[in-house]
Amino acid sequence: MAVTGCQSTGKKKKKKEDEGAAVGTTGPTRPSDGRPWNDAGSLQLPRSVGTKPSYSSVSINRPYVALTFDDGPHATNTPRLLDILRSRNVKATFYVVGTNVKRYPHILKRMIAEGHEIGNHTVTHGNLTKMSPDQIRQELRTSHEAITAATGVPPKTMRPPYGAITASQKSWIRQEFGYPSILWNVDPEDWKKPGSSVVASRLVNGARPGGILLVHDIHSASIDAMPQTIDQLLAKGFQFVTVTQLIAMDGQQ
Ligand code: NI
Repeated sequence: MAVTGCQSTGKKKKKKEDEGAAVGTTGPTRPSDGRPWNDAGSLQLPRSVGTKPSYSSVSINRPYVALTFDDGPHATNTPRLLDILRSRNVKATFYVVGTNVKRYPHILKRMIAEGHEIGNHTVTHGNLTKMSPDQIRQELRTSHEAITAATGVPPKTMRPPYGAITASQKSWIRQEFGYPSILWNVDPEDWKKPGSSVVASRLVNGARPGGILLVHDIHSASIDAMPQTIDQLLAKGFQFVTVTQLIAMDGQQ
């Protein structure tokens, strides 16, 4: 019997680790009334940490962006945000701080259950450029273990607090932890509390294909900005993916 052709990718194909199995598994079904809805939130998109030491955006022409939320979780703001994301099928990436991880493990579990991604943002949120390698190692390791203990899912990327990191730190962190350092290319400076409509317009006007958007879910006004931000970006044709899904598209046109 002749066996020809390429290997079939049949229905029973074993899932590779980098195929986002969790995405869309617990999301709601698409509403029939035409409300804003993120189609990419239901797609089984590949995940990757790429090969570069850091990313502040990726090079693509397709209108995908990653929405990232830093410094939480927050007891009330983050659950409210998760409701907003769920109602639009948007999957985001959360750079959580170690002290909050210990306080709100149930919120981290909810993030994972709803298809979001969690990254390492250290324990104490200090400036890495002022720390010794051993201090940084301890910050990242402790946070990595706390996130893994809370969710069962190890973080795959890290974000340096304040975006402060040297080229050599990026390089050895990538080697030792496997983490690319994730920065951003749209910053609405929401921590300066400019008001929710300003935050929304800065995000909407700044978004480009392959962009990484920075928001802080510890600020209530930033959560207030999310419905209009997401709905306007969806209306402009953007789709939301997680950071590792975005990195997997780097260089694809
Ligand atoms: Ni931060």
